[in-house]
Amino acid sequence: DWTPQSFVEETVEALQEKIGNDKVVLGLSGGVDSSVAAILLHKAIGTNLYCIFVNNGLLRKNEYESVLAQYEGMGLNVKGVDASARFLDALAGLSDPEMKRKAIGRVFIEVFDDEAHQIKDVKWLAQGTIYPDVIESVSATGGPSATIKSHHNVGGLPDFMKLKVVEPLKALFKDEVRRVGASMDMDAAILGRHPFPGPGLAIRILGDITAEKVRILQEVDAVFIDNLKSWNLYDKVWQAGAILLPVNSVGVMGDERTYEKCVALRAVESTDGMTADWVNLPYEFLQKTSNEIINKVKGVNRVVYDISSKPPATIEWE
Ligand code: XMP
Repeated sequence: DWTPQSFVEETVEALQEKIGNDKVVLGLSGGVDSSVAAILLHKAIGTNLYCIFVNNGLLRKNEYESVLAQYEGMGLNVKGVDASARFLDALAGLSDPEMKRKAIGRVFIEVFDDEAHQIKDVKWLAQGTIYPDVIESVSATGGPSATIKSHHNVGGLPDFMKLKVVEPLKALFKDEVRRVGASMDMDAAILGRHPFPGPGLAIRILGDITAEKVRILQEVDAVFIDNLKSWNLYDKVWQAGAILLPVNSVGVMGDERTYEKCVALRAVESTDGMTADWVNLPYEFLQKTSNEIINKVKGVNRVVYDISSKPPATIEWE
């Protein structure tokens, strides 16, 4: 019978056998899969696992700092690389969603390759690929590993892609990955984290991206997510986030007429992201959250709630 404990034991042993004293590089995304893969490998080979956590500047508010600190707290050999400016530069002027995804994928590969080169004699590339990624479901668009896959064809392979690949979670579903993580005493905050797209806030800022828009969306998203947590709704929702619309609308503030940004809030229930229903959040929650966003976040004067299900809508807007 499959149990998380037996999976951990067998996998750690198999990894030790396979990898021996070699060095392994792994890209952490902050998500469940890469984090659980890292902890498994860390158990097996300790500091021969070199983790790289790239800040693309499109993460949630404070996420880079807090997740990096969590990784360090777990004893991982992790290097944080703040490449925000490089990503923002590459995105400047791009509005098309696929162009934005490509630019982010390309810069990620460049940054990761630079870092991998600094690890002497690295032999393996570890990835947090899970079974649904293998069968090319929706998650095949996800995560650093998938970003890499879809950019095979941009020219010669970057050097790290010539490494031998190790994917310890390849046979598992998401819920099994969470159980494996829990059995290794990983933080519930990491295991319960909502899915978050690899291109991050870039595909939640409709149209072109600027540092100011990222800041606005991070603030809005933080109010929404913090409120979901304080109302005990976070764990009942499969995925949630805010979208910055390319729309200004008229508002009024004191005696002044304003003409500012509109944001949409999105929260869905799902099991695998293939289909999704919008969540019936309490009106009181929406009321409080909307007021708080408009009062706190400069530049936003209107909040709407997305009541579309997938299909025919998608979870993301881009
Ligand atoms: P959609 O919008 O297709 O999203 O209904 C389904 C799930 O996939 C995530 N998603 C992405 N994840 N890179 C990712 O890593 C992407 O380009 C991407 N696009 C969508 C989305 O957040 C949802 O969980």
